[in-house]
Amino acid sequence: MNICVFASGAGSNFRALLEARNAGKFESEIVLLITNNSGCGAVNIAAEFGIKTEHISRKIYEDLCDEEYADVFLNVLRENKIDFIVLAGYMKKVPDEVVDKYERRIINIHPALLPKFGGEGMYGMNVHRAVIEAGEKESGITIHYVNKEYDRGDIILQERLIVRDGETVESLQMRVLELEHKYLAEVIRKIEVGKVEI
Ligand code: GRF
Repeated sequence: MNICVFASGAGSNFRALLEARNAGKFESEIVLLITNNSGCGAVNIAAEFGIKTEHISRKIYEDLCDEEYADVFLNVLRENKIDFIVLAGYMKKVPDEVVDKYERRIINIHPALLPKFGGEGMYGMNVHRAVIEAGEKESGITIHYVNKEYDRGDIILQERLIVRDGETVESLQMRVLELEHKYLAEVIRKIEVGKVEI
């Protein structure tokens, strides 16, 4: 498969995927990064690994209607022969037309055990803060297919961890990221070998 990663932030999952690919943990090629934020860490990582970046943001295309804006994504994806999309810390909603076109071929990684702590506004540190404030005994990661509702697609994999006494938002984020880095590549491998339905 030719994979495109969508990312908006630090890009640690993007890096972990590139390293896993270079270590032969899966066979697909990561050929493209799409970001809405040209100053984000993921863009630097793409440059470091020689991966092409496309910056697609509403701010650049403010005159386009939603359908035309979706076409910008679809054209870039087609031009780069992308058959699979990984959302790795992508903060924007993927246009519905892209979700339709790539049905069962887009996955997202979420830093909690969905369906808890998901939905709009539940991203990054907000998620870990909410988990700690709710006094949860466990948290973890969810890797799921993307549909048109935030964080509601079918779940492919969840991995749990115990929330420790004295756990902080930062320590929880770090421990959850470790799980993310390990399992995102594993899921891609499973999809490649048909152990997960696409
Ligand atoms: C991760 O926690 C991921 O689950 C969430 O956003 C964060 C991205 O981190 N969707 P990074 O940019 O990969 O470091």
